[in-house]
Amino acid sequence: MINGVNPDGFNAVIAKWRAIRDGYAGIDGSLNEALVYAMDGSGKMVRPRICLIAASAVSPRWASDQNSMVPAWRRDLIIAAAVAVEMVHNYSLIHDDLPCMDNDDMRRGRPTLHKVYGEAIALLAGDALLTDSFSVIAESPVPDENAGHCAGDAMACIRELAGAAGGRGMIFGQSLDLANAAGNLHEPGAALMNLERIHQHKTGALLGAACAIGAAAAGGSKKAVTAFRFAGSQIGVAFQIMDDLLDDSDNIGKTQGKDATTGKQTYLSLLGRTRGLELVQGLTSGALQGLNEVGILTPDFEAFAAALCRRKF
Ligand code: IPE
Ligand code: IPE
Ligand code: MG
Ligand code: MG
Ligand code: MG
Repeated sequence: MINGVNPDGFNAVIAKWRAIRDGYAGIDGSLNEALVYAMDGSGKMVRPRICLIAASAVSPRWASDQNSMVPAWRRDLIIAAAVAVEMVHNYSLIHDDLPCMDNDDMRRGRPTLHKVYGEAIALLAGDALLTDSFSVIAESPVPDENAGHCAGDAMACIRELAGAAGGRGMIFGQSLDLANAAGNLHEPGAALMNLERIHQHKTGALLGAACAIGAAAAGGSKKAVTAFRFAGSQIGVAFQIMDDLLDDSDNIGKTQGKDATTGKQTYLSLLGRTRGLELVQGLTSGALQGLNEVGILTPDFEAFAAALCRRKF
């Protein structure tokens, strides 16, 4: 899974992640305990990883070469962007598991946050992670002679992340998902179109933002940021199809078979495993082709996307 992620860059992301966690740990009360619990989980960190890989596609030596022309504020912004998108993702999982949403008891091989701290604290912990994610980006740039440019790129990251997470992005997708769970569409074509729209919003949007903010923080052109947003969103839809397939076939630290038990329409229920896997491959190939066409596909990005298609966890 770690394929292609610059180790220096990733270590810096983990260090910042832990510093934020320790900041919560330093404040008393159950909210802060819950935030530490959320940030201690064994997530795969797919979104920060792909964010860094996109940044490296735009600026290959940003992480490893201290003497490169990449200024310190830009390195800090890339790291902050990668941390922020994972905070948004962690918030989305906490809320996704709540009884009023998917009502899940297990996440990352341990009880869901509301099972340990109660629903009200789970709600607030999600709110805190979401809100604080934007502070992480906003507070990252150090004003210097590049202040104007620096603020502009940070603002681009905030705009991407907010747009993808908000009422036209992931949250909208989650609302469509709830409607899907409440009543299945019977016409197969309509059900598939509906499902594609759900996956695009609930998962594609944030993966798209992860790539776009990596490219934007690294100083990529508008064309590069747009290409990465699109590629990331296609990979995100493929990622959600894999999640639906794994929900049924593997124990990945959540309640196995949950989608089938609750009668949820998924690519597995509508198309079956073989066709679902073909779609994963097709979406991933399309994403890679799009990047190739604008000359920003790297072997690292390709390897990471391929690893996501083979994942078993
Ligand atoms: C789970 O995401 C929710 C989906 C969008 C499919 P991940 O599979 O990335 O979850 P963690 O972060 O590794 O636990
Ligand atoms: C979740 O999709 C997508 C989010 C935006 C959180 P799922 O509901 O399928 O994710 P899991 O299976 O609970 O991780
Ligand atoms: Mg859900
Ligand atoms: Mg769920
Ligand atoms: Mg799932």
